[in-house]
Amino acid sequence: MSRIIGLVSGKGGVGKTTTAVNLASALVEHGLSAVVIDGNLDTPNVGVFLGNPVVDVSIHRVLQGKDSFLNATESHISGLDFVAGGLAGNAMRGVKHSRLKKIKELDHDFVLVDGPAGLGADVQEMVKCLDEFVIVTNSEMPAITDALKTVKYLEGKKKKIVGIVVTRVKKDNLDVSLNSIEEMLEHPVIGMIPEDDHVRESVFLKDTAVSAFPSSAVTKGYLRLGAGFAGIEYTEEMSILDKILGWFK
Ligand SMILES: Nc1ncnc2c1ncn2[C@@H]1O[C@H](COP(=O)(O)OP(=O)(O)OP(=O)(O)O)[C@@H](O)[C@H]1O
Ligand SMILES: [Mg+2]
Repeated sequence: MSRIIGLVSGKGGVGKTTTAVNLASALVEHGLSAVVIDGNLDTPNVGVFLGNPVVDVSIHRVLQGKDSFLNATESHISGLDFVAGGLAGNAMRGVKHSRLKKIKELDHDFVLVDGPAGLGADVQEMVKCLDEFVIVTNSEMPAITDALKTVKYLEGKKKKIVGIVVTRVKKDNLDVSLNSIEEMLEHPVIGMIPEDDHVRESVFLKDTAVSAFPSSAVTKGYLRLGAGFAGIEYTEEMSILDKILGWFK
């Protein structure tokens, strides 16, 4: 049976889609199968991130009852699978959110649903259909404050919060510390993903950072996060090239 997890945030633009595709890619690297579902129905961009914005069968078609999740599943060069959103202006016409429950027909080890920001109707409908959630935030106070609202909303709906993924972590000490984030959100931080330009480069390459830049800092962050989900120990073996590059840093 698949493990189905929704990625939600609170504040927009904190790295949910980046986390969905790179966590899926990391799970694939760990030998598991993973599919990313674009649950951001108004402004879908999983397909755009993966260089495949126009698909034959979109999640909108599935939620309109016209096709199945199986038919909507596309493969990506990184090894992950994905279900993209439809980009047409009228894509939401006839969409019934409760059909999201049909993702149970997918048999991947992990099904990751990339959610929209905020706590609007689309998120509320997504929450009705899923049981487990990961909260994505950056380490700035406004994002954490918004994440707290989402935590409280999910708790109110008796949903399981697996943990917090903190993205775009910078080396300066200007942001909220890991301990304070855990204290404020009252859930464990399960992943710390560094700020890394390889994310932008990978979108340009239509690939995930994990697949395109295997020894980058962001990849190591996602591989460690993925290992936690896969239940394996992640040891960061430094390649000779890594070591040589490290001497020059
Ligand atoms: N670790 C990182 N290092 C550098 N840039 C990053 C990192 N993670 C995400 N970004 C950048 O941050 C921006 C927002 O990321 P992303 O689209 O994943 O956020 P989101 O939470 O899905 O946004 P939305 O709420 O609009 O769906 C993108 O430009 C992405 O390239
Ligand atoms: Mg997104």
